[in-house]
Formats: sequence, structure tokens, C-alpha cells
Amino acid sequence: MGYYLSYVVVLVLFIFVGVSVSLSSSPIEDQKRDRVTDLPGQPKNVGFAHYSGYVTVNEKSGSALFYWLFEAPASRRPEKRPLVLWLNGGPGCSSIAYGASEEIGPFRIRPDGKSLYLNPYAWNKLANILFLDSPAGVGFSYSNKTTDLYTFGDQRTAEDAYTFLVKWFERFPQYKHREFYIAGESYAGHYVPQLSQIVYERNKGIKNPVINFKGFMVGNAVTDDYHDYVGTFEYWWTHGLVSDSTYRMLRIACDFGSSQHPSVPCMQALKVAVVEQGNIDPYSIYTQPCNDTSSLRRDLGGRYVSLFSQFVQFIHKHHV
Ligand SMILES: *[C@@H]1O[C@H](CO)[C@@H](O)[C@H](O)[C@H]1NC(C)=O
Ligand SMILES: *[C@@H]1O[C@H](CO)[C@@H](O)[C@H](O)[C@H]1NC(C)=O
Repeated sequence: MGYYLSYVVVLVLFIFVGVSVSLSSSPIEDQKRDRVTDLPGQPKNVGFAHYSGYVTVNEKSGSALFYWLFEAPASRRPEKRPLVLWLNGGPGCSSIAYGASEEIGPFRIRPDGKSLYLNPYAWNKLANILFLDSPAGVGFSYSNKTTDLYTFGDQRTAEDAYTFLVKWFERFPQYKHREFYIAGESYAGHYVPQLSQIVYERNKGIKNPVINFKGFMVGNAVTDDYHDYVGTFEYWWTHGLVSDSTYRMLRIACDFGSSQHPSVPCMQALKVAVVEQGNIDPYSIYTQPCNDTSSLRRDLGGRYVSLFSQFVQFIHKHHV
């Protein structure tokens, strides 16, 4: 994965060099300046526009958030389609390096590390997708005040993301009043509803708000230990990945415990569940698994906060 990520870094630096030489002026000129006309190894005539750049969210500390917008293909009338903000979790996972480049974005990186190909399942076929590296310190987003990186919390993350949105809509006025959704996964189970709440509160009483917020969606969300356990176990059970008796055992042993410090019976139940599941990718149960699932589970890259890491540690300790 490091290989791919470093390629993404190179790509983005490439763009950024082009971006940083021009001077910032009006928001519209900023939009034009942010247009990405080509990437090294990008397929020709992709049929959609994309943009990336920085939006300053705090002048005093000098912090700026990095975004990448992939519009829907021109043939699918992007101007009629909603805008979706996508946030990866972690905390600390880059939405650009991961969400855009490995999950739902239009470009995938070939194993040669030199060229890109199109992802047939890209979400920008249906909507305009805005990827945001958040908070400052994650991915290409940064703060010039080092202490910021040690004092971040969910509240400031949400406030900064809101500031980003307000300024971003000035740069992209064609998206003002457009249907807008917020989506994400994993730790974004916190980011998404918290940002949604701010948008909702600040829109209250405003007719025809600029940020025309319609709803939010989270997948594989970190909510809290109880609901995360209930959801995970029910998913395993209803997809035939664990037996009835293991499901019952998981619910009794784990449901009311902590995922950071699971009890011994809970660890044992998780171990049985892992054995029953066999060699599968728990994040994509219908696709071919990699041959080495231990590397798969090590490489979850911020998608999952604690549950899997706990039983991976457990399995390592017990040489399973
Ligand atoms: C951060 O510092 C650099 C170097 O001084 C400067 O070029 C940049 O504009 C600053 N960023 C922000 C968001 O103020
Ligand atoms: C997994 O191993 C099998 C048998 O050794 C091999 O045929 C297959 O190509 C491998 N798959 C991957 C993704 O490496």
C-alpha cells in the first residue's frame, strides 16, 4: 500500500506545483486555478472535470484543508446531480489517498505505479463527489501551528470542516443551493453526523440555504462500542459468516463490554468467529480474498478503529 500511496503523493505534488505558482485572487479564479487538466498516466478523454486545492480554514494558525472534487461525466449532466462530501475515518485516514484512490473515486493506480485506469464502480458516475482530507494534519491538509496537531478533537474537526464548506461554496458558486449530502465510513461515523448537525443548525430558519443539506450516510461506522458490536455481529450472522451458536455467544460475551479492552470470553468468541469466517476479506465478502489475510487485516489503514485490531492482537499472541 505504501507504494501506491507514494505514487498518489507524487501525483498530488505534481499538481500542487502547478497550482502554487499562480496568485490567489477571486474565488472564481481560484476555481479555475484548481482545475486538474491531466495527471501523469491519466486515461485520455475521461469525460469528467476534476479540481483540487487548498481552502484556508484558520488564518491565525495558518491551517488549510485539501480537497479533490470529481464531477459527474459531462454526458450525465453534472449540473443536475447532487454534491456529496466524502470523509474517511481513522482518525487520520486520508480521503484522497484512500477513499478517492482505492475505494469510490474514478481513478485507480496500476501495479506499475505509472499509470491510472478507470474504476467502473466510481461514485462520480452518479453524483459530484468532493473528497476532503480532514482534520488538518491528515493527508495533504496541514496547519502551520504544530500544536494544532496535538489538540484536535471532534468538535474542532467539525467546525473546520464547516468553515471549509462555507468557503468552498464561494469558490464553486455553481454548487450553491444544490442538493448536498455528507457521507463517510469508519471513524467518519463521528465526523459525518457531527458535521451534519452543524450544517443543520446553521441552516435553521434560512429559506433556500447555500448549503442545501439533504441527508447523511455512514458505512461501517464507528458509533459506540455497543452499537458497533451489535451491527458487526448481526452482519456476520445474517450473511452466513458465523453459526447461530457463535452469534449467540458473541452477543452474550461482547455486547455490553468495551472494544478497547474486551473480556476473555469475548476474545474467545471473536476467535471462534474468525475461524468460522475462514479466508475472506471482511470488507468485501463476495470478492476473491487475498491469499494472506493477516496482511489484509494489518493493512486496514484506518478503516476500522478497534474491534479487528483487538482480535488480530489476540490471534498473534496465541499463534493462531
Ligand atoms: C503556512 O506557511 C507557509 C510558509 O510560510 C505559507 O506559504 C502558507 O501560506 C501558510 N498557510 C496558511 C494556510 O496560512
Ligand atoms: C493465491 O494462491 C493461488 C494458489 O497458490 C494462486 O493461484 C492465486 O493466483 C493466488 N492469488 C493471489 C491474489 O495472489
